[in-house]
Amino acid sequence: MKISVCGKGGSGKSTIVTLLANEFRDRGFQALVVDSDESNSGLYRMLGFDRAPVPLMELVGGKRSLKQKMNQPQVLTQAEIWLRDIPPEYMLEKDGIRMVAIGKILQSLEGCACPMGVLSREFLKKLHLKDKEITIVDMEAGVEHFGRGVETSIDNVLVAVEPSLESITLAERIHNLATGSGVAHTWAVLNKVSSAEMASKLRQELSKRGVSVIGAIHNQPEIFEACFEGRPVHGGKARQETGEVLDFLLSEAKSRDEGKRNDLGQSKPKGDIENMLESSSIQVP
Ligand SMILES: Nc1ncnc2c1ncn2[C@@H]1O[C@H](COP(=O)(O)OP(=O)(O)OP(=O)(O)O)[C@@H](O)[C@H]1O
Ligand SMILES: [Mg+2]
Repeated sequence: MKISVCGKGGSGKSTIVTLLANEFRDRGFQALVVDSDESNSGLYRMLGFDRAPVPLMELVGGKRSLKQKMNQPQVLTQAEIWLRDIPPEYMLEKDGIRMVAIGKILQSLEGCACPMGVLSREFLKKLHLKDKEITIVDMEAGVEHFGRGVETSIDNVLVAVEPSLESITLAERIHNLATGSGVAHTWAVLNKVSSAEMASKLRQELSKRGVSVIGAIHNQPEIFEACFEGRPVHGGKARQETGEVLDFLLSEAKSRDEGKRNDLGQSKPKGDIENMLESSSIQVP
């Protein structure tokens, strides 16, 4: 499953990515976190790493080299990327969580971030996940990544929604853009909620706009303090709330798989052997 977390700046995207990665790991999944935010660089600390991975942009020869290849059909030569193919300096691993970073804008006047968007899109498209491997992408704030098609291979877009009208209206736009990009599932996760009344108001407003809410994470001083001090975010009580988001995603994926299998079972064309048996007098025991 490939999940992206997007939303308004500061709404809690990186926090939700971190909480989800920890929760998936605790449930026996191999979680790969993809840092696709070209501006902020603190995600590795939130996840408990002592340094950031070398950006994948370096692996493909840097931004300039990628820019020259951007009009070619293949910016990455491999047909498929497996986790085992990524060299260790580009993919850090700690306590069962892996992390890669696409690239950061580090210098003034270094040009637009389009190559990062192209690399994110191509990497995610070609990334082949085995059973029990999960990818969680931390997106840059706003909606530009939709313009670059980063979501084309994402199964579930999660929108972090904090208690503000700006965040709610952006969630609606993201829902529409994700649907337009062919993403089948966009869900809101409320964050920094301080009361049940606030959560219910947010749910109501989002529901009016056609956005379903699958979980709510309360305002937790420990989260703020850990981020402020550059410590790993463990989440405290928010872990249980994240667990509920996970339960939803996993059960939804399971019923989707079962639905697909049933559809295939009904419409599956009969194979040669089945046809032969039908047209002969052989009795199948
Ligand atoms: N549930 C929460 N309770 C308390 N503080 C929170 C919570 N979620 C996030 N924060 C705080 O809000 C700030 C923004 O969170 P975070 O960095 O996760 O947001 P973001 O959407 O990734 O931001 P950006 O758009 O800058 O990447 C941080 O200081 C973080 O500690
Ligand atoms: Mg962030």
